[in-house]
Amino acid sequence: MELIFATHNRHKIEEAAAIAGAGFSILGLTDIGCFEEIPETADSLLGNATQKADFVFQKYHCDCFSDDTGLEIEALQNRPGVYSARYAGEHCSFQDNIDKVMSEMRGQTNRNACFKTVIVLFLCGKKYSFEGEIKGEIIEIEKGTSGFGYDPIFRPHHSPLTFAEMDEVTKNSMSHRAIAMQKMMDFLCKNQI
Ligand code: IMP
Repeated sequence: MELIFATHNRHKIEEAAAIAGAGFSILGLTDIGCFEEIPETADSLLGNATQKADFVFQKYHCDCFSDDTGLEIEALQNRPGVYSARYAGEHCSFQDNIDKVMSEMRGQTNRNACFKTVIVLFLCGKKYSFEGEIKGEIIEIEKGTSGFGYDPIFRPHHSPLTFAEMDEVTKNSMSHRAIAMQKMMDFLCKNQI
């Protein structure tokens, strides 16, 4: 089965393809000739994920899914949350976002944080949603070079490694997006799609 993942992010497409396995072909936006940045203007993860999947469904009339992820940090009243992508401002880099979080976390003793993902699937014109989350902590010094986004500063509870120190298989065995993806795959398999 072919599914379009409404994202330009290669890391996410690779993660999704690894989780989906051999029976599924996961294509990104670039693969279908869509080079636009899809607006993400909602104030919730579900709202943004819906906005992205709906954009692709309306324009390309194909089965598709999208995800939206937020990093919620307790000591920062759950920021950056839904604003995780552009926390340090428009056109900021992953490193800019990390630097802003690290500066806001300086001196904080409560380091608890949680990654949350919402996936929205449009299948035969119907909408479904799936959620995944993983709890962990914001470490004091960045570690690791794999992955993307906030991976170098997030260490899941009970793990000696940050996401950025893990190989892809290990991150995919526990990540927020992997949990939501697995729920979507279970739904597709249960319904023999
Ligand atoms: P998005 O809107 O789903 O792309 O996620 C918003 C932002 O959260 C991204 O720009 C990344 O900075 C961050 N993010 C999403 N997923 C991950 C992840 O798996 N690890 C680290 N950061 C992530």
